[in-house]
Parts: sequence; C-alpha cells; structure tokens
Amino acid sequence: MKELLHEMHVWMNDYMRSFRTDDPEVMLGIRLKEIHTGYVTANARALAKYLGCNAHDVALAEIIGLFHDVGRFRQYAVYQTFNDALSEDHAELGLKVLAEVELLDRLDPQDAEIVRFAIKYHNKKEIAPTDDRRKTFFAKLIRDADKLDIYRVLLPFLAPDGAEKAPNFVPSDAAQEVSPDFVADFAAGRQADYYRLRTHGDRKIVRLLWIYDINFAWTLRRIVARGYVDAFIESIPMQEGIAEGIARMRRYIEQRCAQDDTLELYG
Ligand SMILES: [Fe+2]
Repeated sequence: MKELLHEMHVWMNDYMRSFRTDDPEVMLGIRLKEIHTGYVTANARALAKYLGCNAHDVALAEIIGLFHDVGRFRQYAVYQTFNDALSEDHAELGLKVLAEVELLDRLDPQDAEIVRFAIKYHNKKEIAPTDDRRKTFFAKLIRDADKLDIYRVLLPFLAPDGAEKAPNFVPSDAAQEVSPDFVADFAAGRQADYYRLRTHGDRKIVRLLWIYDINFAWTLRRIVARGYVDAFIESIPMQEGIAEGIARMRRYIEQRCAQDDTLELYG
C-alpha cells in the first residue's frame, strides 16, 4: 500500500502539472486546486489518525483526499469554470478520469469501491444511504476534510467585492443581500439548495449552513478556532431572520464541540 500510495502521489502531481499554462488567469484556478488538494489530503490523513484508524485506513483516507477533486482540472480546462451548475458535477467527472487511468484497480476491490463512493459523495447534498459503514465513514471523513479547507480558500472572498474575485464567480450573483428562501433556511438551520443560489449572500449562507453538516467535532473545533465561522457571520447582511439563524448556529456549535468523536469502524 505504501508504494502504491507513493505512485498515486507522483501520478497526481504530474496530472495537476499537465494543466499548467502561460495564462495567469487560468493558473490562478489551477494553483488554487493544487494547493487545495494538498491541504485536503493532509486534513483527511490527520482526521483518520485522530479517530484511531489503522495504517491501512489512514492510507485510504489519504488516497481519497488526494483524488477527491481530480475532476476539477478537466472541468476547468473544458468549461473554464469551477461551477458545477454551469458545467458538470466535478465528482462524477473525477471518477471518469480515474477510470481512464486504472489507478484504483490496483487497490483491493472493496477499497476501490470505498474510494469511488467517497469521491462521488464528497460534494453531494447528502451521502446516499448504504449498509456498508466503511463507505459511509470515509464519505463523512472526506466531506469534513474538504469543508475545513474550503473555508480557508473562501476567507479572502468575503468582502463585498469578493464575489467578483472568487474563482467560481457568476456575474448574476454579485448582489450582497440574502434571498428570502435562503434566509428561511438559515433561520431554521436547514441545508439550502446550492443549485438555487442567486446572490453573493446566498453563497455565504450555503457555506455557513455546512456547519450543521460537519460530521466530526475534530473538524468543527478547527473551523471555529481558525475564525472561519466569525468571519462568515460578520460578512453577511443583517437582514430579518439572520440573527435567529446565527443564535441557532452558535448554540449548535457549543453543544457539538463539547462532544467527543468515537470511531465505530472496528467495533
Ligand atoms: Fe470537490
């Protein structure tokens, strides 16, 4: 596994580099995803270790982190956007890329299935129900490792003019205010439909609502300690209903961070 993991890192590095160009605009997007891949791989590894996974499963977490966004590079090359709604689902695209290179086929078939499942569901609104708790576990782990880093990536784009500078900017969503349906979702602590977002404010609400979708206290403590929650909250317009959503979120964070993570995988 150790040797295969090394080969996978080498392949992924070469693959990411093959998208580099002389166009500084394009390079911004490519570099962003190269760096994101590095951090998410490290996050996935650290979380698996913290949870008490054995060496095999820590390596599996690392592989999932490494490949979770492999589809982003072809997405950007083909569509010049990271917006799934305007192009295609980057997780599905990533699975196509991985199928072409047959790297995952060198894992145990069960492990390969876990990797594919975790990648497929790393960006969906929910993880599909399955009786295989290893699949569910690794899907939860990559979702946390990914979100923790996405908050880091988005922090510089919270200012009012941040929408235009964001890597997935869509000209129609530069408005600051939060749409009424997104205010209602936030007040109720309910996940919003990403595909319906219209404004910069809506986008921030979608990201803040991820807090309720964090699976491990380890991740949530880091998100809070790094100031991401406060920064997002300070950046949203104080419309009616927003304060209610903030109070609900603060209560939830306090209660959730006080809980301990347990690993039920080997029980
Ligand atoms: Fe992703």
